[in-house]
Amino acid sequence: MTDKKMDIIRALKNAGTDPISGEELGQRLGISRTMVWKYIKVLGEEGYVIKSSPGSGHVLVSAPDKLYPSEIMDGLDTSIIGVDIRYFDEVDSTNDIAKKMGPLSDEGSVVIAEIQDSGRGRKGGHWVSPRGGVWMSVILKPNVVPAYAPRFTLMAGVAVARAIREFGIEASLKWPNDVLVGDKKVCGILTEMDAETDQINFVVIGMGINVNVSIEDLSEDIRSSSTSLSEIKGEELDRIAFVQALLRALEDEYVRSKTLGFDSILEEWRSLSSTIGRDVDVVTPQRMISGKAVGITENGTLLVETAEGLEEIVAGSCIHR
Ligand code: BTN
Repeated sequence: MTDKKMDIIRALKNAGTDPISGEELGQRLGISRTMVWKYIKVLGEEGYVIKSSPGSGHVLVSAPDKLYPSEIMDGLDTSIIGVDIRYFDEVDSTNDIAKKMGPLSDEGSVVIAEIQDSGRGRKGGHWVSPRGGVWMSVILKPNVVPAYAPRFTLMAGVAVARAIREFGIEASLKWPNDVLVGDKKVCGILTEMDAETDQINFVVIGMGINVNVSIEDLSEDIRSSSTSLSEIKGEELDRIAFVQALLRALEDEYVRSKTLGFDSILEEWRSLSSTIGRDVDVVTPQRMISGKAVGITENGTLLVETAEGLEEIVAGSCIHR
């Protein structure tokens, strides 16, 4: 959205139910009344409902339920995450776009879409991404070795769980990359990287959150194990406010990891986790490991106490028994 359109929306929002004339808007923005009228028309096409009366002026009646960058950035006080937000109504995968943008983009750039046609999940799986969700990828450029990549999944999990909790919903973390409410999944995280052998060039943290998604819009095979925030609340959430909370939480965690070290993130992960202390079955590429999850290491590996002793698991699918 152009700055002028954003300025018009801001002015109308601030005025509330008091009409502002085209002349006044034009004066404030340094443009003609005709230009104001053109912008108002375009805003209408974008889904803003603006009541315009010839005698008095314009009143904003409602904003569309769209994740427009101008709406997300309005009042967002982050300095890294969300510096640049690319918006798409429909894409194949926000992670794919972010990976292409990665080399030339600023750290903290975000790609967000209303719908993904080929959303990707872990292990090459498909991620169902209907309208109403938040499908988003964030580009980070940390100066660390590739072995640290799993840390960003854990960090993002903490940020998502914190953002959800701000809306009064008890979210927890399931190793390695799920956010649950109760025993149902509301979010999956897919971290991908572009790296040399000794250094990460950039990571793309893809987060898929079922915010205002109706369960019928998810594929049948995941319906019984998934839920959405609107389903839990019994009403739709303000997605803009949710994305802002998430971007703030992500920035907070990222800055904290750099200043206080990754241990402080791990501590939060442990306290938000519903895996630690649970009896689990972990399906690894080689075999299934059963036991009690007792900890997580700084490399993101899961420690499981089994009948044969302590196992450190690098990758796998975890089932809470
Ligand atoms: C999982 O399998 O649990 C991970 C799912 C990750 C989905 C998100 S949605 C935004 C980003 N773009 C993608 O194609 N995938 C991730």
